[in-house]
Amino acid sequence: MSAVVQTKRITVPEIKAHKNAKPVVCLTCYHAHTARLLDEHVDLMLVGDSVGMVMHGMETTLGVTLDMMILHGKAVMRGSKRALVVVDMPFGSYEESPQIAFRNAARVISETGCQAIKLEGGARMGETVRYLADRGIPVMGHIGLTPQRIQIFGGFRTQGRTEAEWPAIEADAKAVAEAGAFSVVLEGMAEPLAAKITREIAIPTIGIGASAQCDGQILVMEDMLGLNPNPPKFVRQYASMGPDIEAAVKAYAAEVRARTFPGKENVYSMKKTA
Ligand code: KIV
Repeated sequence: MSAVVQTKRITVPEIKAHKNAKPVVCLTCYHAHTARLLDEHVDLMLVGDSVGMVMHGMETTLGVTLDMMILHGKAVMRGSKRALVVVDMPFGSYEESPQIAFRNAARVISETGCQAIKLEGGARMGETVRYLADRGIPVMGHIGLTPQRIQIFGGFRTQGRTEAEWPAIEADAKAVAEAGAFSVVLEGMAEPLAAKITREIAIPTIGIGASAQCDGQILVMEDMLGLNPNPPKFVRQYASMGPDIEAAVKAYAAEVRARTFPGKENVYSMKKTA
């Protein structure tokens, strides 16, 4: 008889318990093979709406649909069994009302099997965060530089560079924490502000371009692996997979083209010597 080993996924309360105890390791993930590779090493995988830019070549995240998020969410769930999986709510799927947000978030949770959703926005989304959390949907907040408002920001500009900007951003952090979010992403934020917010709120802050002062870190996996030819400046690259893939494809192509056909010149080797 073979013993069935059941791996329990990391839970929302376990992520919350990282606060002031141990850093939360997070990465984005959009597909099953990479989910399998990440699963042992990260606490949380985010199926981010950055999938639109990274996997679908979109200019911004604004064209990402709920169906796309569900498709990629299912793939990541199939490829993983340990890490907590959070799926992003795309632009237009939650801003209109708490009720619409609930309907769409419930679809994401029930169709993918993920444990939580993420949505962008601070104080203005407080009511929605509370509505979802009260009805059993764990919410990760996302404040600072929120890419779904790129048209309003007018570009990817670090938030909180001047102290005059701080009170509104601190109010955003407090609003999502008090509304019941279990963690909050701080994106593109000046270090002293990220540090202050991390001290001020009771839930883990997860930084991306927001300094090492946060309770955890997240990066877009393709950026840290060296697949993005133009990664954000703050990203440290841990591999150079772009050049590695190109070299491998080049070697493969050369091998396939080296085949000779009886009675024919190899046009590729002719080209090479010409
Ligand atoms: O969509 C995404 O990848 C994100 C991260 C940048 C936090 O929201």
